[in-house]
Amino acid sequence: MKKVHVPVSTPYDVAVGPGLLESLGKTVKSLCPKAGRYVLVTDTGAGPNWASMATDSLDSVGFAGDTFTLPQGEASKTAANLIDLLNFAAAHRTTRSDVFVALGGGMVGDLTGLAAATYMRGAAYIQCPTTLLAAVDSSVGGKTAVDLPAGKNLMGAFWQPRAVLCDTDTLTTLPEDVFTAGCAEVIKTAVLFDEPLFDLLAREGRSFDREAVITRCVEHKRDVVAEDEFDTGRRALLNLGHTLGHAAEAESSFALSHGQAVAIGLAVVCRAAAKTGICAADVPTRVDAILEKFGLPTHTDAPFPALMDRMLTDKKRAGGTINIIVPEAVGRCAIRPMDTDQAAAFMKAGL
Ligand code: GLY
Repeated sequence: MKKVHVPVSTPYDVAVGPGLLESLGKTVKSLCPKAGRYVLVTDTGAGPNWASMATDSLDSVGFAGDTFTLPQGEASKTAANLIDLLNFAAAHRTTRSDVFVALGGGMVGDLTGLAAATYMRGAAYIQCPTTLLAAVDSSVGGKTAVDLPAGKNLMGAFWQPRAVLCDTDTLTTLPEDVFTAGCAEVIKTAVLFDEPLFDLLAREGRSFDREAVITRCVEHKRDVVAEDEFDTGRRALLNLGHTLGHAAEAESSFALSHGQAVAIGLAVVCRAAAKTGICAADVPTRVDAILEKFGLPTHTDAPFPALMDRMLTDKKRAGGTINIIVPEAVGRCAIRPMDTDQAAAFMKAGL
């Protein structure tokens, strides 16, 4: 088992390795000694495989608790489900000393985190990511949110978990397409910070060592979050591929998964950066090749005006300026503020 310490305003550890859910109860007891109850939040994907192991472990150390299960998928990340979860916690007499446990992917983690942030003005929560995407990105760093009809993650808060327990056994039951979607965030991390990791992924493809690669990605995310917890500067780098990606995801009415959309966004900015002289021509060639090797898309056929319209409602826009993350090389990226016309021309160059 590997551990990564995250030194933010309320510091915590990310543990990565097999068997962590079996000792969940003991871990929660030591981190939240005043808690008597838990609310375990899961979905119809992770729940049937892993919820009983988690609740058995919690029950075995004397906790009482209840399980709240959401339909799997981004469509569940709504304000209505957030309110249902808060009502569920209140109906089960959960106190602010008790603990929320998120067992699932990004949707479950983001929604549970926001419930914990707001329940009685703030309760503890533990992230137990069961997807690769949640393990390497969304479970770490304290961004919590639900979506609004106008866009993704428009209602949220920064609220750090008490711990992240990434049990790599849970990845064994992931459907192939969900695992593939997570690979997009792993490749994104490599393009951002780590050429040796990029080369390893290009060599090993999908058979990469789960524990080692997740830990490496979490270390990179930890470094960024420790420097810019509240996303006022460098943390924007993590949005590489997300501006166009979020637009493509919404434009497909979520037929594209988040990971597929990020893959498209990543490929587009790499091609755009090469065409505008920001990076060498081999960067998009290598990035397209690795995405294809992992079974991820590199193009969208959504109409450009519709994508642009979506990009302009993205919350990463500030006034007339939008921060586009551009690759300068594999392993090095920069934040470039562009006005909306520049951003449109740049993205169009990469489509
Ligand atoms: N997922 C991007 C971030 O945590 O900032």
